[in-house]
Amino acid sequence: MKPKPPMLVYFVISLILSLPLLFFFFCFKTNTYTPPGNPNSDLKIRPGYTTYKTYIQRQLNKTLNPKLRKIWTTRDWDRKIQVFADFFQVLKQENLLFNESKALCIGARVGQEVEALRRIGVSDSVGMDLVPYPPLVVEGDFHRQPFDDGTFDFEFSNVFDHALFPDKFVGEIERTLKPGGICVLHVALSRRADKYSANDLYSVKPLVNLFTNSKVVRVRKVDGFGLDTEVVFRKIEKQDQEMIRGSR
Ligand SMILES: *[C@@H]1O[C@H](CO)[C@@H](O)[C@H](O)[C@H]1NC(C)=O
Ligand SMILES: *[C@@H]1O[C@H](CO)[C@@H](O)[C@H](O)[C@H]1NC(C)=O
Repeated sequence: MKPKPPMLVYFVISLILSLPLLFFFFCFKTNTYTPPGNPNSDLKIRPGYTTYKTYIQRQLNKTLNPKLRKIWTTRDWDRKIQVFADFFQVLKQENLLFNESKALCIGARVGQEVEALRRIGVSDSVGMDLVPYPPLVVEGDFHRQPFDDGTFDFEFSNVFDHALFPDKFVGEIERTLKPGGICVLHVALSRRADKYSANDLYSVKPLVNLFTNSKVVRVRKVDGFGLDTEVVFRKIEKQDQEMIRGSR
């Protein structure tokens, strides 16, 4: 007759069996996002993302879609570069963008907007996305940009609606912009932008509130690949930041 296994063995086995469950619970707990309180806000986070990982996987699914990538780099390539170049030329005429500007395009996919910047003479420009596309686009998450504070003179993005944490998306732009630097966002108001979107924006007000370290330069209507509004911000200068802090 075999001896009975001791209690300890049962305990260890049950502990090992419950580890995946504990792990899952832990991940779920730490990553679940509760959208900011006001349900009447003009910025709504879409429900359904239970963890940051599933959100990233969904975003990657669009970015890595071979059919879309093919279209972006062939059929769309020249047409989109021309439209972006036209947008950027307007900003140049307004002295918001210069050939010497160090520029970043956030969520740039295959980097059409970066190519447009380079073609109009803004040579020190780069894109960032979850998947790199050298030499135009480097790898990075817009919720945690891989750049030092005060790196860029100019940042452009048309993927605000993909941000699960709009406050981090904006906070990272303000962190990596130099004081006086310009941020240009193309957004869609009042309509569901994309099935991959993580938020819906119904007015520019929540956006303006998120840019706590910047001033609105201007807002105008544009026709930008399904996005209808261009909002331009300028990060406030250092002495003004200190003055604001001092007056609090
Ligand atoms: C990812 O994309 C593929 C097609 O490219 C699709 O079959 C799959 O269901 C998608 N997965 C998610 C999680 O969206
Ligand atoms: C900026 O670069 C473009 C393209 O290289 C050039 O045509 C233009 O003259 C430059 N502008 C200035 C102000 O240097």
